[in-house]
Order: sequence, then C-alpha cells, then structure tokens
Amino acid sequence: MRRATALDGPRADTATAGPASWLPFHRPSIGAEEIAEVVDTLRSGWVTTGPKTQRFEREFAARLGVPDALAVSSGTAALHLALRVLGVEAGDDVILPAYTFTATAEAVTYLGARPVLADVDPVTCNLRGEDVERARTARTRAVIPVHIAGLPCDMDPILDVARSRRLAVIEDAAHALPARDRGRWVGTLSDATAFSFYATKNITTGEGGMLVVRDRRAAERARMLALHGISRDAWKRYTAAGHWRYEILASGYKYNLPDLAASLGLAQLRKLARFHARRRRLAARYDRGLAQLDAIATPPHAPRDGTHAWHLYMIRLRTAALRIDRDGFIEELRARNVGTSVHFIPLHLHPYYQQEWGYRPGQFPGAEAAWSQVVSLPLYPAMSDDDVDDVLTAVADVVRRHRR
Ligand SMILES: Cc1ncc(COP(=O)(O)O)c(C=O)c1O
Repeated sequence: MRRATALDGPRADTATAGPASWLPFHRPSIGAEEIAEVVDTLRSGWVTTGPKTQRFEREFAARLGVPDALAVSSGTAALHLALRVLGVEAGDDVILPAYTFTATAEAVTYLGARPVLADVDPVTCNLRGEDVERARTARTRAVIPVHIAGLPCDMDPILDVARSRRLAVIEDAAHALPARDRGRWVGTLSDATAFSFYATKNITTGEGGMLVVRDRRAAERARMLALHGISRDAWKRYTAAGHWRYEILASGYKYNLPDLAASLGLAQLRKLARFHARRRRLAARYDRGLAQLDAIATPPHAPRDGTHAWHLYMIRLRTAALRIDRDGFIEELRARNVGTSVHFIPLHLHPYYQQEWGYRPGQFPGAEAAWSQVVSLPLYPAMSDDDVDDVLTAVADVVRRHRR
C-alpha cells in the first residue's frame, strides 16, 4: 500500500475506481546502489567533475559502442553545445518539429539562430523526411529530429534529405535511451545526439545530460566549451596530476556534470537494461488492458527491426466516442487518483513562439491533431503490475461513464 506524500494530489471522495491512493505520474527508481555511489563520492573528497564523471562517460559510450561521450548539466546544454560545434550561427535556420518540448527550440535561439518549426506524423508524433523537405529554407543549417516518447524517428529519409542539402543532423534523444532505428542505436546515427537525465527520464542524475558527437574534433571542442572554454583536462587543476595554469581557448559555458550527479548516473546506467525490460512489460500490460476499449488508441510500436525506449506511454483518445474532451478525461483520472501528463503542447501554440517567431494556430495540423487527443499514463519501473491494473480500471471507468 502506497503512503501519501506532500506531492500527492487531493484524494477525491468521489473516487470509485482506480488506485486506493494517489499514483504519481512519475517516481524515480533510486535504490541502495545509487545511494552507495553518492556516499562513496561524498567520502572521496571530490564532488565536482572528476573520476566518476569520466567513468560515467566511458560506460555510457561503451553502452552505445561509440568512442566518446560528454556528460553535461542537462539535455538542453547538450543540444546547445551540439548546435554550436556543428557550426550553427546567428542568422541560420534550424528545422525542428512543432511537436516537442521547448528546450529543443530554445537551444537554437541561444545561438541567435531561428527555430523553423515543421509538422509531424499525426500518429507517431515524429518528424518525417518530407516534413524536413517542406520546411527547408535557403538558410537552413541543421535539423533536430526528436524521438517522441522513445519511439525512434524513421531516420533514413531525414538523413537522406540532410545529406543532399548539406544539413547537420542533431538528434534530440531526451526520450530515447535505449532506442534503435533499423537495428542501429540512437546515438550512432547522426552528427550529434543529445540525451537527458532529467528526473523523469529513463535514467536520471537529478539534472544532467550526455552528448555524443561523431566528428572527433567537434567532440573535443564540445568538451572544451562545456567548461568555460578552458584547455583540456581543466578539472585536474586541483589534483596532484594537474597544474594550476590553464588557457582559455574560447568563450564557453558552465555545462559540466559534477561527480555527485555522475554517481547517480553510474548506478542508473547499470540498471538500464532492467529498467527498459520493465518499461516494456508494463507497456505491453497497458496494451492488453486497453485493447477492448474502442474509445482509446494505444501508442504505436517500433517496427520489427527497431527498439522503442518506452519513455512515455501516450494513449490517444477517440474523442468522437466520448462526451468529454482530453482535458476532461485528465480531470476524471485525477479524481480517480491517477497522475497523468500531456506531451506536448506544440510550440506554435505558445505565446512566445507566436509573438517572437510569428507562428499561428492551424499551421501544423499533424501536431495539433495529436496533441488534442494524447494523454501520457504513468510508466516507470517502480510501478507494480497492480499499479498498471489500477490505472486500467480507472481508464475503463472513465470511458464507461462518458461514452457517447
Ligand atoms: C524532448 C525533450 N528535449 C529536451 C529536453 C530537455 O532536457 P533537460 O531537461 O535535461 O534539459 C526534454 C526534457 O525534459 C525533452 O522532453
């Protein structure tokens, strides 16, 4: 039986079906291994970027089979660094899906470049090659596909357009660890890939991210820029192996990941396969439980040769079959103790993107069709089978009471 916490929503007296107490949308899986790694770091006398961060980078790179990875303070920082080292500058255009979190576009604006929004597939919510081609301008320098929910984009058509138009490709893989497109790991497919270890992600460091850059020199430059543009191995300057003297080679950022956070990441990374297997099983349980409800569409799966990271379980409401809309559906689930979320409100529907960049509602029908119907149900390894069954009971009850 789950105990109520300060984060809990109100227990509705009207709750008739679903969890007995508030089931949060997300809860991280932090165990004895994470605590032991963090305590070890605390006792080591070195808490900022150092040996644990280096080990985290090595183990992450080995997991993907790439030569190097750079641990940074967030997925947003990873996107920003990637855009910078791949040559995006003020006045450039960067294509990205309207259907994403603001961080994808925000990183573009950091460099004075323009986020050029593109529509997406209304079913997968992912960017397609044809969307990139349609959004292309004479100033387009790069494209950022986002693997929504952990379902990998169909990368070949995007890579084909990029190759023929000489565009850099940076994948926003905040949701996509571990994910494969046609048997290839996300992180090995394009010029750069940005991962996030934000609290809700498939593995977490509290806040944090990882950047994989294909070109060796660009990767080295990203490492230098991530720590104030200081010459390599700057972190060593307070150790016996280091030296106090350093050189500033460029105007960089304070984007390094400290050892304290990397400790969490090391323990989480070792559990990634187990976490992923659990996410997959819970998603399959949702699929089976929802199959009978014709008012609900279950999320698309990866093709046979792909791997879905199952970061999110996004159902789609067939609102024509219901007397309530998506927002009403969420309120009904909330009254039954189920925490949910919506991924995402398309960027062109936000005031900033309208006022600053001139976007308008109606511009991206694929994105709008998806967002008005999606609900993300709770999905995390700490959930039990019973938790999933409780959510299914709540969903079935809402559908039954609000059928047309
Ligand atoms: C699609 C997407 N891109 C980028 C980010 C940014 O990651 P972070 O919070 O680590 O900066 C997030 C998430 O939080 C995200 O969902």
